[in-house]
Amino acid sequence: MVRQFGQYDRHVRDVIRDLWTRLRKHVPGPVRRRVLPHVSGAYYRVFPERHPDADPAGTGLRPGDAHYRAYVGPPGDFDLIAANQFTLLTAAGLREQHRVLDLGCGSLRAGRLLIPYLGLGRYYGIEPNEHLVHEAVNREVGRDLVELRKPTFAFVDDFSADRFGVEFDFVVAQSIFSHTHRDLFEAGVVGVAKALAPGGFLFATYVDGPTSTGSGWVYPECTMFGWSDVEAIANDAGLSATPLDWPHPRQRWFIAGHPANQEQMLELARVIRSPNAATSATT
Ligand SMILES: C[S@@+](CC[C@H](N)C(=O)[O-])C[C@H]1O[C@@H](n2cnc3c(N)ncnc32)[C@H](O)[C@@H]1O
Repeated sequence: MVRQFGQYDRHVRDVIRDLWTRLRKHVPGPVRRRVLPHVSGAYYRVFPERHPDADPAGTGLRPGDAHYRAYVGPPGDFDLIAANQFTLLTAAGLREQHRVLDLGCGSLRAGRLLIPYLGLGRYYGIEPNEHLVHEAVNREVGRDLVELRKPTFAFVDDFSADRFGVEFDFVVAQSIFSHTHRDLFEAGVVGVAKALAPGGFLFATYVDGPTSTGSGWVYPECTMFGWSDVEAIANDAGLSATPLDWPHPRQRWFIAGHPANQEQMLELARVIRSPNAATSATT
């Protein structure tokens, strides 16, 4: 039987997650790595149906639930959102020699397609929830491929894209700025701008609507932004931005890059169109 989160355990989970988010930066990495498996072991003993082995696809679970596929969005969309990102980047000219940063890479939805496509050491991921990456390596990507392609990960929440000491040709941030209020959205775009190659582009999603008020990270609920605010955030970080007509079931894509590449960006926005309506507003 699949038990759904009720109002009560959702609230308890949110309180625990909030507490952990505040505490985790004070806990040394080795301690974190030793303690976390025990915490998740206890969690899955209480909720065995949420263990990935119970149902690898996470069927019936809700976005944000403690299952590596469900945590990052509706589990039934895991394949679709992977393809959506990969096809967008390849349509925009991604080749194996490019360096890609997957900002908030989560359970490697995009990573499981990007890592085999890209050349040795060309995939980078930033993700504060380290266990999502480990589960995705075990269940989606495989250790052999990690050995072969040598992706690089940083388990941080400070958007420090420049920490790797390389410049990125492509940065993808799918469903990241749909969970940030303006302060974190700004920090994220500033972080990306510091590490964007001269000809590099950021491809990111947000939820279009009246700009939300508040600060920090909200999850699994979404924040909203009007386009003029998204554009202002990019401009303040020294980038130009333009919306993209690329399908997404719930969000809107935009592209941002150095102002010198404004023409190229507009041309990309003109030619990048979905070849078919693979996603629909109802999914
Ligand atoms: C909706 S999921 C999207 C994951 C991934 N981009 C995808 O398409 O599947 C949001 C992700 O952002 C991560 N996240 C939360 N705070 C973050 C931060 N400060 N920097 C980067 N990622 C963050 C979450 O842990 C989660 O994996």
